[in-house]
Amino acid sequence: MEKNLPFILEIKEELAGYWKKINLEVDESKAELVIDYYNSRIKVMNLIGIFENISGILKIVAKVEKIGKIIVYAPLENIKELETCGYVEEGTINGYYAGKDCHVFSSYPETSRGVSPNKGKEDRIIENCLRKVIIAGRKLKKPDDPQKNESIRKQTENIGLPEEYRLKSAVQADASAMATLYRQEFKFYPTPLHMKSYLLKTMDSNVLYFLAEKQGTILSLASAEMDPTNKCAEITDCLTIPSERGKGLIKELIKALEIELSKRGFRSSYTLCRALSPGINAAFASLGYAYTGRLVNNCKIGNGFEDMNIWCKILKNNRSKQRIN
Ligand SMILES: CC(C)(COP(=O)(O)OP(=O)(O)OC[C@H]1O[C@@H](n2cnc3c(N)ncnc32)[C@H](O)[C@@H]1OP(=O)(O)O)[C@@H](O)C(=O)NCCC(=O)NCCS
Repeated sequence: MEKNLPFILEIKEELAGYWKKINLEVDESKAELVIDYYNSRIKVMNLIGIFENISGILKIVAKVEKIGKIIVYAPLENIKELETCGYVEEGTINGYYAGKDCHVFSSYPETSRGVSPNKGKEDRIIENCLRKVIIAGRKLKKPDDPQKNESIRKQTENIGLPEEYRLKSAVQADASAMATLYRQEFKFYPTPLHMKSYLLKTMDSNVLYFLAEKQGTILSLASAEMDPTNKCAEITDCLTIPSERGKGLIKELIKALEIELSKRGFRSSYTLCRALSPGINAAFASLGYAYTGRLVNNCKIGNGFEDMNIWCKILKNNRSKQRIN
């Protein structure tokens, strides 16, 4: 039952045209809201107390701000009341809360936003990824020819890059070229990666950006958005320039990010990736990530709203040798 309780809304941070981060307090219950205008969604994080106390306020905010989707990140304890309030679980992020799973629930104030036009196609992409992983696993298990097995292992893990390619962690001087690449590739992107100022700000705080380059030209990029409290990171912003695709660059960058995260004591990583992109789903599947759900029309990317798949991995100490500068 929703209650009309007195509440406090306190704006903590704002990026004009993109989002407002707000602390909401209703009675004894608290949550952090991101009112994300660009993606027409409200994200509810760090929920403490009773969800039913805040669900009425969320409905009002969604109506006033003309928001199409409300997403709640919640621990196991809140599942029942989220369901009671009409929210549906779209997936889980394993290990998100310092090892404990996060359940991602959604509600769609704009009914049409909750319908995916591409479900069949997206399901087939997942099936193909999982089939490839199973076949690769079976081939690895055959004990007959150790040399052949080693070659298959290298192919499936895609170890190493050609000599002239270099992996590095991005520095401030790279921000301008990075912004240009994101601008060229994406008409819409959920965060303002086309803005050099945004890249510089996030580089200086909680985001690790890694690049693959050849003779000083950036060919591929990926990042890890770190939550140092929970030791969990989101791997995101993956892009390889069209002429360099299919050479294993994005997989090498993801592996490099995982190694860096492990060194920093991070225990898990996950991604929310475009459900209609065979390449990005194949990359995470073949690197040992588990498919744990799909967030319908979750954000504006490419040409409009798209479904995002969740892939998760518990990180272990990785001692693989890579050239990172
Ligand atoms: C998705 C993207 C980043 C992949 O980068 P990449 O460097 O070409 O990827 P890799 O060469 O490391 O390949 C990764 C996996 O995808 C597979 N793959 C690559 N392109 C593919 C395609 N067009 N169709 C099917 N599989 C493909 C590779 O075979 C590999 O799988 P495997 O390990 O099972 O062999 C790149 O295509 C891209 O930049 N796309 C546009 C931007 C985008 O949509 N980014 C994703 C945001 S979530």
